[in-house]
Amino acid sequence: MSIEATPELLEGLEHWRTLEPAQQPVWPDEAKLVAVTERLAGLPPLVFAGEADVLTDRLAAAGRGEAFVLQGGDCAETFAEATADNIRNKIKTILQMAVVLTHGASLPVIKLGRMAGQYAKPRSSGTETRDGVTLPAFRGDIINGHPFTEEARTPDPERLLEAYHTSASTLNLIRAFTMGGFADLRRVHEWNRGFLANNPAYSRYETTAAEIDRAIRFMAACGADFEALRTVEFFSSHEALLLDYERPLTRIDSRTGLAYDCSAHFVWIGERTRQLDGAHVDFLSRVRNPIGVKLGPTTTADDARALMDKLNPAGAPGRLTFITRMGAGQIRDLLPPLLEKVAAHGSPVTWVCDPMHGNTITSSNGYKTRRLSDVLDEVAGFFEAHRSAGTIPGGVHVELTGGDVTEVLGGSEHIDDAALARRYETLVDPRLNHQQSLELAFQVADMLRGA
Ligand code: PEP
Ligand code: CO
Repeated sequence: MSIEATPELLEGLEHWRTLEPAQQPVWPDEAKLVAVTERLAGLPPLVFAGEADVLTDRLAAAGRGEAFVLQGGDCAETFAEATADNIRNKIKTILQMAVVLTHGASLPVIKLGRMAGQYAKPRSSGTETRDGVTLPAFRGDIINGHPFTEEARTPDPERLLEAYHTSASTLNLIRAFTMGGFADLRRVHEWNRGFLANNPAYSRYETTAAEIDRAIRFMAACGADFEALRTVEFFSSHEALLLDYERPLTRIDSRTGLAYDCSAHFVWIGERTRQLDGAHVDFLSRVRNPIGVKLGPTTTADDARALMDKLNPAGAPGRLTFITRMGAGQIRDLLPPLLEKVAAHGSPVTWVCDPMHGNTITSSNGYKTRRLSDVLDEVAGFFEAHRSAGTIPGGVHVELTGGDVTEVLGGSEHIDDAALARRYETLVDPRLNHQQSLELAFQVADMLRGA
């Protein structure tokens, strides 16, 4: 039997429209937008509500210190980059990091891609001016194009459909890789193939892989059953920024009559759209997915507690994740008091560290970049803050890619300002490359072990 939504629930899902959502584009053609959203509403959901419930349980475990979240992927996915090679390399990178973390800390790792829907970006300014010409800012492939021309920068609703189809094909390949044998732990060595050799992070990975291999062979000799090693649970996530996309993909779960945003398993509210009375908080308060909120350095304990009341009034474990992004220089001062006051509130939260967005700088030659040392220092500060407050460091959230790009400074390849020019490909924020991602995973594994 299928359970229907109440009229109040359906009405509530439209309430955001009255709240003037922040960070939305100005669509030149409203009628075209309406036609597209109607079409989207008729297309199949990208994920199943039951999968989102499983993720809620997993995140609840991370909130108790029984698992660790690894959330990673592009700052902004692009349609052009949604190729088999890029998706495979990103998956391999996340699987390798997860192996390092699981092996190092003996904890299950929850794999959550910033993938299959991470197409909308908040911007500090609605416009961009170059040589006296002012055009709408690039807001992500789901809204407009990156080239600095009037044609590309004009928001086009057709892009919502392309985002949906690109997400569907990305998710399809992710499911094939993670369920079809590619992610089998017995192939742990092979995930490293094709990446540059002769690098400290890679040799360390080979050592870890060899230990895992030996353990598996030992267990096989003992007659163990390896069905559980064959597949990997992998979830999708993105910032739920563009509400004209999230609303039509929000569906009523026939098992319960409740609403789920079926554009991804996990969706989060960004630092720029977390206003308590804002449209984004209102909309996500009405769906049942596990959700996140980014918390930057200006967050007060009252803000955090009010968000908990509004987004998780029932106090359900795993429902709410706070993703802190304070900056390496501030985290040790700002996070401990916040953790203490949130803990005193009593409602459960899963704490995840985003060590990227508080550490963005401009290089001497004009690139938007970050230092790997700052990223690692913020993660270290995150662990220290939790240890001092007696709360649980539940995971990390990073911008990464499986390629050998040069966007973040430092690491064992010693990428410096000049080297950024070599392969700087991101359209928005700088990403850790494959080997910097592995370096981070080894360091986090050490921190998790309390080393
Ligand atoms: C992001 O995750 O890419 C982002 C824009 O983050 P924040 O909302 O924390 O600034
Ligand atoms: Co970003």
